[in-house]
Amino acid sequence: METLELFESPPPNPRQRLGPAAMVLRGFALPYVQEVVPAIEVIEAISPFRHMETPGGFTMSVTLTNCGALGWTTDRRGYRYTAVDPDTGEPWPVMPEAFARLAIQAAAAAEFDDFEPDACLVNRYTPGARLSLHQDKNERDYGAPIVSVSLGMRATFLFGGHARTDPTAKVPLHHGDVVVWGGVDRLRYHGVMPLKDEPHALMGSRRINLTFRKAG
Ligand code: SIN
Ligand code: FE2
Repeated sequence: METLELFESPPPNPRQRLGPAAMVLRGFALPYVQEVVPAIEVIEAISPFRHMETPGGFTMSVTLTNCGALGWTTDRRGYRYTAVDPDTGEPWPVMPEAFARLAIQAAAAAEFDDFEPDACLVNRYTPGARLSLHQDKNERDYGAPIVSVSLGMRATFLFGGHARTDPTAKVPLHHGDVVVWGGVDRLRYHGVMPLKDEPHALMGSRRINLTFRKAG
């Protein structure tokens, strides 16, 4: 019986290294889900999810909103951070305390101390939605890491190199997983493959990704 119990519980917070300063923290967000999921509903009631347009004129398949002092947006004029939601004319919703706590703890677990996130991009994926390879480079300083929290349906995260054409690792991300990348890995290309429709017990046919940054 004892052996069975041992094998039934997964090891606590197993890490998977993606680079010298990049790692996946499996299940790290699970203890925060009860606080984080209702907080997403509060955010979307203030600043709804919307499809955004890229400078190249494409409409993104992922829908976005933000919370925190700064929010990431894109339109025909380019990518940028704003303090005001361009759709509502009001400041982005305040970053919930549980969000900040999760992001700071995950950064610390990945050996980035003193993370001070001021922006949280909330991406919503429905089946078929994807995110093409890109670098996160609209932030003022690259000293702080990116902390990316996955909730709901699983996705295949692509983690590449410093050139768009570099080979990419295919990393399955499940509900509760957190990816942290910074330092020498801060500007690596990454993206998400088109999502399959495999409804999640808690979240249904959607995946929510929270990406924390120090933008300002
Ligand atoms: C992003 O790169 O902004 C999101 C990545 C993800 O959805 O896992
Ligand atoms: Fe990104």
